[in-house]
Amino acid sequence: MRVRFSKRYLRTLVPLVIVVTVVILALRHRGTPNVSLPRIPNTTYAAQRPDPADIGSDSWSKEEVGSLLASNKISLDSSVDLQFLDLNRLVITGVGLKKCYHAAGRFERCSTKVPKGLPEVPFADRTLEYVIPKDLRGSVGFHWYGNSEYVYFDALTLGALLEAQATQEIYALVDVASAPFPESSLVSVKLHNLYFVFQKFTLAELLADSRQAHTVSKINVLFGSDCKDPRDFWHLIKTDALLDGYRFPSYISCEKKPVAMRAASTVNPALLAQDGRNFKIVQLADLHMGVGENKCLDEFPATDDCHADPKTFKFIDSVLDIEKPDMVVFTGDQIMGDRSIQDSESTLLKVLDPVIKRQIPWAMVWGNHDDEGSLSRWELSQLATTLPYSLFKMSPYDTADNTFGVGNYVQQVRNATDPNDVLMTFYFLDSHKYSKTGKLYPGYDWIKEPQWDYMRHLYQTELAASIPTNKPHVSMAFFHIPLPEYLDFDSKKHPGQQNPLVGTYKEGVTAPKYNSGGLKTLGELGVEVTACGHDHCNDYCLQDDSASNPVWLCFGGGGGEGGYAGYGGTERRIRTFEINPQNGNIYTWKRLNGSPDQPFDQQQL
Ligand SMILES: *[C@@H]1O[C@H](CO)[C@@H](O)[C@H](O)[C@H]1NC(C)=O
Ligand SMILES: *[C@@H]1O[C@H](CO)[C@@H](O)[C@H](O)[C@H]1NC(C)=O
Ligand SMILES: *[C@@H]1O[C@H](CO)[C@@H](O)[C@H](O)[C@H]1NC(C)=O
Repeated sequence: MRVRFSKRYLRTLVPLVIVVTVVILALRHRGTPNVSLPRIPNTTYAAQRPDPADIGSDSWSKEEVGSLLASNKISLDSSVDLQFLDLNRLVITGVGLKKCYHAAGRFERCSTKVPKGLPEVPFADRTLEYVIPKDLRGSVGFHWYGNSEYVYFDALTLGALLEAQATQEIYALVDVASAPFPESSLVSVKLHNLYFVFQKFTLAELLADSRQAHTVSKINVLFGSDCKDPRDFWHLIKTDALLDGYRFPSYISCEKKPVAMRAASTVNPALLAQDGRNFKIVQLADLHMGVGENKCLDEFPATDDCHADPKTFKFIDSVLDIEKPDMVVFTGDQIMGDRSIQDSESTLLKVLDPVIKRQIPWAMVWGNHDDEGSLSRWELSQLATTLPYSLFKMSPYDTADNTFGVGNYVQQVRNATDPNDVLMTFYFLDSHKYSKTGKLYPGYDWIKEPQWDYMRHLYQTELAASIPTNKPHVSMAFFHIPLPEYLDFDSKKHPGQQNPLVGTYKEGVTAPKYNSGGLKTLGELGVEVTACGHDHCNDYCLQDDSASNPVWLCFGGGGGEGGYAGYGGTERRIRTFEINPQNGNIYTWKRLNGSPDQPFDQQQL
């Protein structure tokens, strides 16, 4: 007799067999019971990237530091200013790998492979284990079941070592290299292709010479052969990948921070307008970058050998070198989320590299795709607030659940010769993603009334007082999704007439169907120009006259080769704004990828 399974039984049986196999494999591979990787990476990230609000919560007074040093019989040379001694700085005492099975996007069971070679770490009770929540094998997020692998490191804070009165020497990570160092005093630990090099230090040696950093204070993993790490004190090891042969090669980046931080932070730099010079803003819209070189979409004109992100970077580099802007604004979808599932941090750092490397202050708003990778909007925002030259801010109302949006803020430009003289005000708003009331208002979401209320509140309580009334002042607003008024091609004030328009209107404007009163608010705040992205093939500036004052509504035009284009062929473009602080005149133009030296659609707004 032949046993026949109906399709219905097969449909139940196949998943059942898979589930049983997963459970058996997981039980067999139980490993150390105490290791459970956080599936939500924010807990581990909190340890690696302290929330700026937390800094100082575990701070030590100068007196406490002095008495801790005295009880350890350590006298530091005069180059170390106790006030700046960072006792929360980490010293890395061990590294290793965790090999895991994961299933169903939640379950993960790991075993730790402690590498041979390093002596037992003293003060195990004070040692913290940091697991870098990035799967080297590129399986988590791509497959619902499989093997994953993580780098972890053990670390102690300088404060913990001082408190423990550490008298023995400590092996601390000093470098990561492609080959072991020959010195016999160094111990190398090999993880895949790289050697993690440890050196012996006394506690006094760890604290000495505050200007130099001898030891590594943090490590991180980044992915893709084109990854970059432009952060202060970070050094990306590119001579060899840590692990190759999986989805994307993984690389190790090391932070070597001095033990006493004295350098002024490059975060939230002042925006200054120099006398006799115009203030220039380059808007980078819809770069759609991903981990690795990324796929080209609708390249125009088409070539045989297109690599999306390298081509976009070449374009950005040329425009930044030609324009030499005072500020760069990313108007959303700089990160193509579904091509950053492996690691959105790798994409964000790479996107920012050309700007940070040139020491240009940058602001950013999120689009509908940025948070579709490994990091949420909230996590991306926390990261963005800590990066060099960042103007990104979170408002006190911004929440992790995005109800208010994340990244609603204002920045002002001051007169370089008279910092009390405020010359320009820029509003940045999170325009969310997709409409949550699709039946009533299908399509994209909108900037909510409370966000506009917040801007009005800021204006009334802080900004208005700083804005001089007896001379020109320029105000602009930046967000990702266009306002409904971007569709106002016909004049409201003069029926039968068209509003002025410069540039290309090629594709349906995907503004929200609901009008939350944004333009009216912006009119009240004295905003003259808005800049958005989102519609890659629209790049026009339209003067709308429906609010109290006419407002120019501008599109950036898509800049990234990884985003869609089409509509009969659209070359990628980048918009620049130029503001004369003396008379308040605003000029704008664009440049094309293939001919960045030829500006077009120049106009005065
Ligand atoms: C797990 O770790 C905690 C704290 O590190 C410890 O108290 C506990 O006994 C450990 N559990 C097992 C099963 O080893
Ligand atoms: C981090 O994840 C935990 C667990 O899901 C959650 O409760 C917490 O709110 C998250 N924190 C942030 C800052 O998103
Ligand atoms: C900046 O301040 C200086 C000194 O007060 C003044 O001469 C100059 O006109 C100001 N620049 C602008 C653009 O207002």
